[in-house]
Amino acid sequence: MRCLKLEVVKDLKYKFPLPRPVLVTCGLPYVNGPCHIAHLRTYVPADIFIRFLRKLGQQVVFICGSDTHGTPILVKAEAEGLTPQEVVKKYHKHFVELFPRLGIDFDNYGSTDDPLNHNRTKEIILQLLKNGYIYGKQLKLPYCPTCNRFLPDRYQKGTCPYCGAIARGDECDQGCGRYLEPGELLDPRCVICGTKPEMRETRHYFMKLTAFEEFLREYLKQMDGTENARNYALQWLEKGLRDWNITRNLDWGVEFPGEPNLVLYVWVDAPIGYISSTEEWAMKKNGDWEYFWKGSGYLIHFIGGDIIYHHCLFWPSMLKGAGYNLPYAVVASGMVRVEGHKFSKSRGYVLWVKEDYLDKGLDPDALRYYIASYTGHTRDLDFSWSSFGEKLNKELVGTLGNFLYRTILFAKKNYGHVPQGEVEPDVVAEVEAVIREIREGLDIYEFKKISDAILSLAAFGNKYLQENEPWRLVKTDPNRARQVTYNCLWIAKALQILIEPIMPEKADKLHKQLFGRVERNKLLSEVLKPLETGIKLGDPKPLFKQISEEEIEELSRITLERVSTAKG
Ligand code: 2FM
Ligand code: ZN
Repeated sequence: MRCLKLEVVKDLKYKFPLPRPVLVTCGLPYVNGPCHIAHLRTYVPADIFIRFLRKLGQQVVFICGSDTHGTPILVKAEAEGLTPQEVVKKYHKHFVELFPRLGIDFDNYGSTDDPLNHNRTKEIILQLLKNGYIYGKQLKLPYCPTCNRFLPDRYQKGTCPYCGAIARGDECDQGCGRYLEPGELLDPRCVICGTKPEMRETRHYFMKLTAFEEFLREYLKQMDGTENARNYALQWLEKGLRDWNITRNLDWGVEFPGEPNLVLYVWVDAPIGYISSTEEWAMKKNGDWEYFWKGSGYLIHFIGGDIIYHHCLFWPSMLKGAGYNLPYAVVASGMVRVEGHKFSKSRGYVLWVKEDYLDKGLDPDALRYYIASYTGHTRDLDFSWSSFGEKLNKELVGTLGNFLYRTILFAKKNYGHVPQGEVEPDVVAEVEAVIREIREGLDIYEFKKISDAILSLAAFGNKYLQENEPWRLVKTDPNRARQVTYNCLWIAKALQILIEPIMPEKADKLHKQLFGRVERNKLLSEVLKPLETGIKLGDPKPLFKQISEEEIEELSRITLERVSTAKG
């Protein structure tokens, strides 16, 4: 993808495909623990999005990587008696191995501790210094006399000065969600030993965020993406910004140039990881990273709703101040709840993707479908085993799987191949409407709209089959029976292409049943094309497996047991 100057043919009714190639990123996971459902709340929709863009002929590069610095890693390392390097290595490997099992297919998965990221971060800081956006200042910050160190970010717990909730040093994670500046937290305590810190003088560096207020106001107004991202950022902006302390007294992270005792705050080098991961992709695949970050490519960030502040205020200011491209869109998902409670690893309201799901032999595609279809992208997703079971059994087994299995089984038994026929206008109209819904859904980043449309096509197929009864016609009107079967297979062929972005593994299996072999990445334009007659059908097999009430009960029991034994 070196010469990415290829322009796609635009359909003026829709936003996507964009006229030039797109780089899509997902918020980088802190590698301080295994993958959980809240990660998937972002990664699965992003993966669905890029797969659909590719079906529209859009050139896309999909980027992610491990967020390896900051106190999330250090606190975990102390708790586990490991070095930060060991923690990072362990969980980086976990994520790298897990994503393919879920069909999440990044073009590059980098690491913020890679030399590429250290170098890119330094280059950006030097640019910001040169442009006059960074200055040094003496200030007093909490210092733990027992542990003999300053207490940045997650090394302290205290009270949020804005809402009174228990908060961490740099974010009010349990209350109002605000980013907190060092020294702002009320009644701080050291999280390691519980000591009340004293205030000690130290020198830090600040980014002049206040210099970007006017720019951000204009930029955010036209930024594409979900409304929650734009609106929250504009609201915070209206309250006024403060200059941002971008250094920490730690020895794990990216060193501030010329200051061996200071590292950059993790939220400086983490988003720069999007750039360095693109650089790594470019080196491996002979691509052009500057096309996206300095040229005319588009940038789209998929993030969780809790990191809007960082992506819509800090990040565009850094990019602007250092002379890089600005994001075209920020797509922020809603938060996750588990069995009716706010997602919390420490309180046990969590679903560990490997341990609780994949290692239990549960279907990765069913989880992808569940995440896409549960609710609107910016709303909260309340994971419960009972709603998961209901969706799997009713929608995937009962509607989609049922239509496909009945169709292919009947066709295989009676003809062995795709019989002669012509697609009927009503059937075409239905599929055209589904394609419209999908394209509208993509334009507004609403993945439920897309998955609902696909399911409605399967429901239409079932109704068509039921009303036309080809099993009866085969005896009374063989020509009509062939025609009906052809139409059902034509719908199945459409579904094969349409489900691929959401359920890639099932799409492969379905392709094999329909055509006797696997073929991926068919374009959306193929959906409305005729189905070749005479093709030998593969072996019909139900695509989805029903989950029993006993299984659901057992899975719920495991989750609730974790809650009851959680430390809180
Ligand atoms: O909130 C988080 O989990 C961060 N690790 C996200 C970083 S996103 C990006 F900026 F790197
Ligand atoms: Zn708060």
